[in-house]
Amino acid sequence: MINLFISRMEREHIPEIVELEKLCFSTPWTYENLEEELDNKTAYFFVALEDEKLIGYIGVSVVADSCFINNIAVYPEYRRKGVGTALIKMAMLTADAMGTDFISLEVRESNYPAIALYRSMGFEEMGMRRDFYRRPRENALIMTKIFAKKD
Ligand code: COA
Repeated sequence: MINLFISRMEREHIPEIVELEKLCFSTPWTYENLEEELDNKTAYFFVALEDEKLIGYIGVSVVADSCFINNIAVYPEYRRKGVGTALIKMAMLTADAMGTDFISLEVRESNYPAIALYRSMGFEEMGMRRDFYRRPRENALIMTKIFAKKD
């Protein structure tokens, strides 16, 4: 079992996130991209740590009534252990705390593990952006979870 700890992303986490990005994505976020998010008031980035080792991260932005997951990744040797679920829960708590109406994201239509994770968290396919991704060119599914209205 993982001794999992989720906290806000700090500058010291960025080099390990850059490595994780390179491992997972064909157009990875750079150190500079991530550093900019530290000062971005609409950005909420979290890291998953086990005994201070970075094992995953998630980046969320909140704009008006909407919450978007920009990126999520877990190191391969730590997958299928609930880390992705814990990071999405953190994003959903953030979305709830900020009073947003929904949380949404784009995902490559061939990315079965990620789509399975989002479905398991109650996200539904709400649309598609044709040729949204490069390297390789691919459609994006738009997956969204709409929150129940609070009176
Ligand atoms: N195959 C089938 N179902 C999967 C799956 C896989 N490879 N990975 C996750 N799931 C589903 C399962 O229902 C799983 O529950 P279970 O393990 O009890 O069956 C559930 O999602 C929760 O998985 P979890 O362990 O919380 O997710 P994770 O820590 O493995 O992280 C990703 C999932 C997508 C973040 C991880 O695979 C990853 O980093 N992928 C590369 C980066 C990426 O593609 N990010 C998404 C960009 S949109």
